[in-house]
Amino acid sequence: MTEVGIDGIEVRTGKLKLDLAETFAPAQDEDPGKFTKGLGLYASSLPDVYEDIVTMAANASHTLMERKGLTPEDIGRIDVATESAFDHSKPVSTYVAGCLEQVYDEDFHHANKGERKFACISGTQALDDAFNWIRAGRARDRAALVIATDTALYARDDPGESTQGAGAVAMLIDENPDVVSFSVEQGYGSADETDFLKPNQQFPSVDGKRSMQVYLARMREALEDFEAMGGNTHPENFAFIPFHTPFPGMVEKAAVLGYRHCIRGTDIEEEVAEKIGRQPRPEAFDDEEEYLEAVKDYTESLSETTSYQEWYQRTVEPTLDISREVGNWYTGSVHIARVAGLKRALDEGWEIAGDQMLVGSYGSGAQAEIHAETLQSNWAEEIEQLTITEQIENRYDLSFDEYEEIHDVHNHDAETDIEPRTTPDAEFVFDGWGRMGERKYTYVE
Ligand code: CAA
Repeated sequence: MTEVGIDGIEVRTGKLKLDLAETFAPAQDEDPGKFTKGLGLYASSLPDVYEDIVTMAANASHTLMERKGLTPEDIGRIDVATESAFDHSKPVSTYVAGCLEQVYDEDFHHANKGERKFACISGTQALDDAFNWIRAGRARDRAALVIATDTALYARDDPGESTQGAGAVAMLIDENPDVVSFSVEQGYGSADETDFLKPNQQFPSVDGKRSMQVYLARMREALEDFEAMGGNTHPENFAFIPFHTPFPGMVEKAAVLGYRHCIRGTDIEEEVAEKIGRQPRPEAFDDEEEYLEAVKDYTESLSETTSYQEWYQRTVEPTLDISREVGNWYTGSVHIARVAGLKRALDEGWEIAGDQMLVGSYGSGAQAEIHAETLQSNWAEEIEQLTITEQIENRYDLSFDEYEEIHDVHNHDAETDIEPRTTPDAEFVFDGWGRMGERKYTYVE
């Protein structure tokens, strides 16, 4: 059967930067180490006055289409995944199509458009929809444009404020892809949870500590489901394991639990057993609490083994490079983790064509999904065209006062009128409001 997967990727960050150690920590009277070491984050990306989820999505998509030599006729569907939508009826994808139609002679009238919602996992769900649409034979030789775009803001002084971020990832899904193909095998862990939600409000209500437990529990279920479907999870199978990354510290916690699960009964468990013993098995304990305590001790010892540390440094740590600098992009977060891993491989000259990645997506509320991806022979050519490193370096570094103003600019309930900190250059910009309350956009040369 023809391979289907990601043929091209483009990443667009918000153009402003909030430095967590230098700017945020002193203003909040916090130790910078809480953010840089505890959470693993150095900075957040935020949108300038003229940027929002539509401009970031449209600008990423435009660059991607230009690079791939595509026009609107080559696109059969546009799916936007977001948890920052500003309209309960008209989907963000229509705004994005409207932007793109300003710069192309053709239109997207025959493309199916929609908006996907399930917190941060909806980007991956949209990839899944595209895969199914193509495999069902309905694509008419056209590709799907999937865009994950968010302005991930928390209320001021919420514990989540330090994990904010904003950006978009546009992905082209097609047959015979250049970057990765998707596995048919996938696993789900899904349950009705009340850990992070936005009931008709812009900023989330979050039970932070519980949200971390729910992330781990659903991810574990998804892994078990993936294995039950025949997916092989031997840790040495994978070049990278990109996870949904609300902050890198969360991924560190998930990685060691995942490793413990996946080495059970393998050669790796035997190898490390010489130093730390075999994993506790529930049948060896009369008491559940004692068993859980033993598992906790084993996990701690495992995290200190060379075997685990080498694996983590090779397959997980590189996927956090972008996230550390830009914060949480919600729907885009797992997709920048994939890009970060591939960028590291490119920079280091690692030969990974034909290798696999295991991708762990997650959305609060809550659902995890796990699938495998196979790296295609042209992955490096595609990744080397990305400019995300330059975009990160060129961001405007906000003072704390400026940060407070820009948070208000993007707060739907606040009224502000401030000048942008950057100058638009050959891009779509937010251009005010229309007569029905719609947001309007223009392409600036
Ligand atoms: N030096 C080094 N480390 C330090 C430190 C210092 N000076 N001060 C604190 N730390 C460590 C803490 O020990 C802690 O690490 P451990 O968890 O390993 O113990 C870490 O830094 C964070 O410190 P706190 O737990 O005190 O931080 P907090 O309670 O103020 O906030 C949070 C943490 C609850 C995760 C908060 O950022 C939050 O609510 N975030 C939003 C929710 C979230 O991202 N949840 C993740 C799972 S849900 C999901 O994935 C969906 C999504 O995208 C939102």
